[in-house]
Amino acid sequence: MEKRELIYEGKAKKVYATDQPGQVIHEFKDEATAFDGKKRGIIAGKGKVNAMMSDIIFRYLEKHGIKTHHLKLLSENEILTWWLEMIPVEIIVRNYAAGSLAKRLGYPERTEMKAPIVEYYYKNDELGDPMLAREHIRELGLASDEQLDEMTSIALRVNEILRPYFEARGLILADFKLEFGLREGRLLLGDEFSPDVCRLWDAETGEIMDKDRFRRDLGKVEETYAEVLRRVSEEKAGVAVAVYVSPKKGILDPAGQATLGALQSLGYDEVREVRIGKYITLRLEGVEADKAEERVREMCERLLANPIIEDYRVEME
Ligand SMILES: Nc1ncnc2c1ncn2[C@@H]1O[C@H](COP(=O)(O)OP(=O)(O)O)[C@@H](O)[C@H]1O
Ligand SMILES: [Mg+2]
Repeated sequence: MEKRELIYEGKAKKVYATDQPGQVIHEFKDEATAFDGKKRGIIAGKGKVNAMMSDIIFRYLEKHGIKTHHLKLLSENEILTWWLEMIPVEIIVRNYAAGSLAKRLGYPERTEMKAPIVEYYYKNDELGDPMLAREHIRELGLASDEQLDEMTSIALRVNEILRPYFEARGLILADFKLEFGLREGRLLLGDEFSPDVCRLWDAETGEIMDKDRFRRDLGKVEETYAEVLRRVSEEKAGVAVAVYVSPKKGILDPAGQATLGALQSLGYDEVREVRIGKYITLRLEGVEADKAEERVREMCERLLANPIIEDYRVEME
C-alpha cells in the first residue's frame, strides 16, 4: 500500500490517494476546531484515538450488517477506506437533548428524547452547516428521497447497535453525526466515528467524555479521549455460547430408549426415535467472537462432550 498525493485536507483529517484504485487513506490530525472553526487548538493524541476508535466502531458496525467505507487500520492514526463520492448532508441522531437541540427546543440539557430524533444538516462551511428540512435537501438536489430514506434508516439502526455497545462500556451515547457517500452507486457509511462527532457521558458520574470538553474548556481533554479509546478497546460485552450435546446415531442411549418406550406406551405411536443429550450455555468474557468459538470447541473435545460417543454443536449468540 503506497500513500500518494493529498486529495483533501479537512479540519480533522487529511485524505490521501493510494496506489490501489478506489482506496484512500485518512490521516487523523491532533488539531481540533469548534464553533465553525472559530475556536482552534491541539488535542495531543486525538488523531490516534479517532483513527483507532473509528476502526473499532466501523468493524463492529460491519459485523452487525452496516455497510461502511472501512477497510482497515494502517497505523496508529491512519485508516484505509473506499473512496466515496460524499453526499453533503450530515445525519444527526439524538437520544438526549444537548447543544443546539436543547437551545432550539428550550429543553434542559440531558432531557431524554421520547424516541431518537434524526436531523439533517448541510455540510457547507461557508453557510455554517445549516439545518435542513427534507424539502431543502430536495430543493438543493443534495440527495434523492430514496437516498435520504436509506440514510435515515441506517442512522437509526446504527443507533440501535451503538447505544447498547457504549452502555456496556459505561457510556451513554447522547447523540452522534454520520456522513454517507456513494461507491459504484451504492450508499456506504463514511467519515469517522470518534469523540469528535458524538456526545458520550459517563453512565455513573455523568462526566462529559467527548469533544464538548474542548468546546467548553472543561479540562482533561487528552485524558478523556484516551479513556474513551481504552473503554472501546476492551472486549467487555462477553459472548453467549450455546452447546448442544447428543448421543451419536447408532450409539446405545439408554435414557433415550427408556423415554421412547414410555412415550409409545402412552400412545404416542408416531415417535420412532428419541435421543437425549445436554444443552449447555456459557458466557465468555475477554475474548473475541472468533476466538471464543475455537475455545468452546476445544472445551467440548476435552470436557463438555465425549467425542467418541457424542456429537456436539456450538452456537454463538
Ligand atoms: N470515504 C471517503 N471518501 C472520500 N471522502 C471522504 C470519505 N469519508 C469522509 N470523507 C470526507 O473527507 C473529509 C474528511 O476530513 P475532515 O477533516 O473531517 O473534513 P471536514 O473539515 O470537511 O469535516 C470530509 O469532507 C469528509 O466528508
Ligand atoms: Mg469532519
